[in-house]
Amino acid sequence: MPYPPATRRAILGAGAVLFVIALLSYQDSFRLDNSLTSTLTSAKNTICRVWPGQSLYEELYDDCDETIKSPFIGVADTLGNPQRCLKGSSRLRHQITPGHNWSEVEWGFVQRQCAAFEHKLSASEYLPHHIWRRPADPQTVKISSEKRTAIVLRTWDDYEYTEKRLTWLRTLITEASLQRPGKYQVFFLVNVKDPNIQLEEDDAAYDQALRQFVPEEFRDMALLFNERTLKAWYPLVQEHGAQDQMYQALQIFSQKFQQYDYIWQLEMDLRFTANVHDTLQSATAFARAQRQRNLWERNGRFYIPHLYNTYENFSAVVDAEFGDTGIWGPVQTPDFIPKGIQPPRRVNNHWGIGEEADLISFMPMIDPVGTNWVYENNIYNFEAGAGTPRRAAIVSITRSSRRLLQLISDAQLARGQWLVSEATLETFALLHGLKAVTVPHLISFSEETKMEDLLGDINKGPPHSKAGGDSPSMLYTKNGFLPGPWWEASYWFTGNGAAKIWDEYVDGKLLPPMLLHPVKEK
Ligand SMILES: *[C@@H]1O[C@H](CO)[C@@H](O)[C@H](O)[C@H]1NC(C)=O
Ligand SMILES: *[C@@H]1O[C@H](CO)[C@@H](O)[C@H](O)[C@H]1NC(C)=O
Repeated sequence: MPYPPATRRAILGAGAVLFVIALLSYQDSFRLDNSLTSTLTSAKNTICRVWPGQSLYEELYDDCDETIKSPFIGVADTLGNPQRCLKGSSRLRHQITPGHNWSEVEWGFVQRQCAAFEHKLSASEYLPHHIWRRPADPQTVKISSEKRTAIVLRTWDDYEYTEKRLTWLRTLITEASLQRPGKYQVFFLVNVKDPNIQLEEDDAAYDQALRQFVPEEFRDMALLFNERTLKAWYPLVQEHGAQDQMYQALQIFSQKFQQYDYIWQLEMDLRFTANVHDTLQSATAFARAQRQRNLWERNGRFYIPHLYNTYENFSAVVDAEFGDTGIWGPVQTPDFIPKGIQPPRRVNNHWGIGEEADLISFMPMIDPVGTNWVYENNIYNFEAGAGTPRRAAIVSITRSSRRLLQLISDAQLARGQWLVSEATLETFALLHGLKAVTVPHLISFSEETKMEDLLGDINKGPPHSKAGGDSPSMLYTKNGFLPGPWWEASYWFTGNGAAKIWDEYVDGKLLPPMLLHPVKEK
């Protein structure tokens, strides 16, 4: 089958300028700390390089600053070792490399070469345009036995690719799929706002949009869609807008790229203060280690170290509070037969330990009912309507499984069932009885925030949804924003907190592994 012209050009062009070589030994600077070795022992010790003979960059670590005076919540080591800090300068200034022009790298090609080497696959199964634009052809996709994960960056047509943003994107791809190759493949899923461009039928229009909306270096890892694409896939759903139906395009991605068992959806204004691959691996390891007993009840609240000292104690406190009355397996719905694994008949402390999570989120999964959230009543084509048991988590930065996305896709296709983006994965996971985990990563607040105020503010809901309840300051409510500590927080959906911390990090402050969002630097 002929490949679209853009892809063909990418292959030929890239062959001329790029090398990918693999070293068979780890350098000292790439040694992993103990918390990660168990998750990575099966990975081969290779590093893929963009330029021959040159290291991608040396990761420089140092002892972390002991000066985080701000109050914080979360478990300090869920995203990696909090004593070992990756210097911002080593990551973000490495691109000043005389004799090389980073705009000429073709990042999709480099990643595919690297993955093909790792997984002993032919490069042809990786041509993303080919898979995206044509009906799925099972012959072309070889599903390797190893679980693989895609990272999908959600971008849009007029996103401004400034130098700072380009630097970050190159760093992200390098860390996620070249310095620790094999596990992650990074894609751009590009929302084209003009609904009239016939992206599906018209090769020339697709190609032109690709050239217009995506910098050359990312074109062979970018996939375009518009509302027209989504309407054709999901005609029974009344909503196809990017904000409220963010997962439709991801559902389609998952159907087409079946070789990925899991998909991280990352936003363009997310920044990591530690190696991207290692951070995601740590979050995944935390989720895998969680037991199902009272998991939804833990997911519904913030973990506050000041109160509990350890996450184990927090779990024990929640267990003591709920006993065997927590959610166990799928929550009843008249809408469909749950597809998760049936839970053991007796509640026990072991079920779920070591199992991969179908959903990972970085904010609590709360019960939207009674929150006064602006989307509280947005649920469509479910038999019980607003009476349907639901969960929601703000910030659509998640990892979802192919299985979960498939179930959502099926429900949208067959019955047009939908909720807004923040409640989609969470509610379907709840109703199907799939493992969903809130990773309690470190979130800091402004130094002026008093611990007592914080405690009184963020966990004041009912026991099953403590981070929720009536009008939590975390949400945008029907009465607008409410006073609270979030505007200066390191992770939320708006405010300046994350951007300030990122600036300090870039200027040399040594910070433990954190996710910062939103950082809208230009
Ligand atoms: C780097 O390559 C890009 C794309 O080919 C080109 O536009 C730019 O002028 C080059 N920069 C330098 C400094 O050569
Ligand atoms: C566990 O958490 C409870 C509730 O906050 C607290 O009272 C107790 O001191 C903690 N126990 C330990 C061992 O930290």
